Amino acid sequence: MCGIFGIVTNQNISVGKIALDGIKRLEYRGYDSCGIVSQHKGKLYIKKDSGKIDDIHKKMKLDDLPGKLALAHTRWATHGAPTKINSHPQIDCSGKIAIIHNGIIENFIELKEHLISNGHDFKSETDTEVIPHLIEDAMKEGLSLRSAIFNALKKCKGAYGVAICHADHPDEIFVVRKESPLVVGIEEGKTTYCASDIPAFLPYTQKCYILDDDEIAILRPGEVEFLELNSEKKVKKNAIHVDWSIDAAEKGGYEHFMLKEIYEQPEALKRTLAIPQASIEIFADMLLSAKNVYITAAGTSYHASLAGKFIISKFLGKYIQEMECSEFQTQLKDCLEQDSLIIALSQSGETVDTIEAVRWAKENANVKILTITNVVGSSLTRYSDHVIVTQAGPEIGVAATKTYTTQVLTLALVGITIARKRNVIPASEIECYHEALKNTPEIVKNFLANNIHLIRNIVKNLEKSLNFFFLSRGISIATAKEGGLKMKEIACRFIEGYSAAHAKHGPISLVRKGFPIIFIAPPDETYQRLIGNVAEFKARGGKIISLVIQSDKIIADMSNITIPIPQPGDKYHNLISPITFIPALQLLAYYAALEQGLDPDKPQNLAKTVTVH
Ligand code: G6P
Repeated sequence: MCGIFGIVTNQNISVGKIALDGIKRLEYRGYDSCGIVSQHKGKLYIKKDSGKIDDIHKKMKLDDLPGKLALAHTRWATHGAPTKINSHPQIDCSGKIAIIHNGIIENFIELKEHLISNGHDFKSETDTEVIPHLIEDAMKEGLSLRSAIFNALKKCKGAYGVAICHADHPDEIFVVRKESPLVVGIEEGKTTYCASDIPAFLPYTQKCYILDDDEIAILRPGEVEFLELNSEKKVKKNAIHVDWSIDAAEKGGYEHFMLKEIYEQPEALKRTLAIPQASIEIFADMLLSAKNVYITAAGTSYHASLAGKFIISKFLGKYIQEMECSEFQTQLKDCLEQDSLIIALSQSGETVDTIEAVRWAKENANVKILTITNVVGSSLTRYSDHVIVTQAGPEIGVAATKTYTTQVLTLALVGITIARKRNVIPASEIECYHEALKNTPEIVKNFLANNIHLIRNIVKNLEKSLNFFFLSRGISIATAKEGGLKMKEIACRFIEGYSAAHAKHGPISLVRKGFPIIFIAPPDETYQRLIGNVAEFKARGGKIISLVIQSDKIIADMSNITIPIPQPGDKYHNLISPITFIPALQLLAYYAALEQGLDPDKPQNLAKTVTVH
């Protein structure tokens, strides 16, 4: 949940500036406090405080640090409030060992008690602080820094990614990964970087290594060595070349990453349409031969799974059971069947509950895991039998946008492939579904080009209503839920995405004159019944805002405001409406946040990647 960045170089460059820029690119991982340490002439120089990076930088000039080695951290508090003392780096008693950490040391209380009884003085309430003291303890017993790090980390239980430096080691950073993402970037012979995520060092290098669990990397200027944590043996690793552009990790003229990423959707969808068919076929074949199929995810990915499940089941002829990843083990522990197949969706591939769900399933039954993620080499991929990478490009905004639409598109591609393999519909219809999928980039592009004014007006109209609903039926319940989630995350409004039919069983009691209800209404098989639901809410004084296709007449006429989606009203386009209708609701949340003076890229209490249970 925190962001880690490290640099060690032999070049004449400002490590403070690069480290500061690095954590700014990782700020989406947490932003309640931050800190930087550099090493120079046998001393550590530390600057840290609570608050946002920019504000702390204004106060402390975070980039003004000497030396050729620096570590930087942006925090999302777990153990210990977001205060200056709890921010990272954390140091040992001697002030020579500094560490930055992402994750949780689960057994820190017993380790801390033991260290205190050995005379160690703890300054913070963090779990992190046990690590520098453990290293210090081991060094006092005569171990080298390297051996002390191995010794200390073998005692730590939990999930973590850490980077460690020592005042007397001017050209070494030790990086350790256990279930929390860590990547190493390298400019051969010059500079080596580590970070929680690739975009952090993307402006400097595209050559990187992905650490595996229980691995240590020792970073030196322009070189890196990998070792196994348990055996302490060397590991040979191949570098990968990432072809993301630097631009993709910057705001590129947009006010916020979220807005930029909403606008990047047409391109992201085009790239996703080009995913090799062979990979989709493998996915489809595995689904076809499975006995039971589950789909699991968290947050926005979970909503993508609801839409995807709808599309795939239509053609698969088998029920797909969706399950929130955090519930997977609890609910299936007595009934997970052999020969099941689990589709795991996660844009980051690092959500701990999703990883735990698939890992548990693999340990307890003969299951296969199909993963859809946006991050090559992410943790989830390690437990997977087949992986498809959604070609969204790096997503920095905490609120998932383009990763959502590309996830749904990927699942739709699998669905159509299954339809073809099973011969459940004529070839001409398969072609029409394919055409509809191919049209998604253009539909989204046209919508985004022509409707900003309308969306901003609606936001102004809604401004006084703190609560309202997004309602729909069928596949569009996924859209309603995802729209509601975006509003909660970004605009801090309690907006519920709900089934329009089910809303009669309770939620309708909230409706008063002028209470806004947004209906998501593509003209699919649920449309006629949705007309009835619109009428029920209208009759009670509700203000009806409808998301309809451009040529819609009936629900459009019943509505106070309509948001027109530029797509045909055939069944092929209806099926892909979760992709083409959601940008309107993403924009609604974005502008609602701005209207309230909130920063859409830094929603309160949220982190983009949730690596704690
Ligand atoms: C967090 C993020 C959400 C995201 C969810 C699942 O809650 O704030 O935007 O949808 O995690 O993340 P994943 O990486 O597994 O898709």
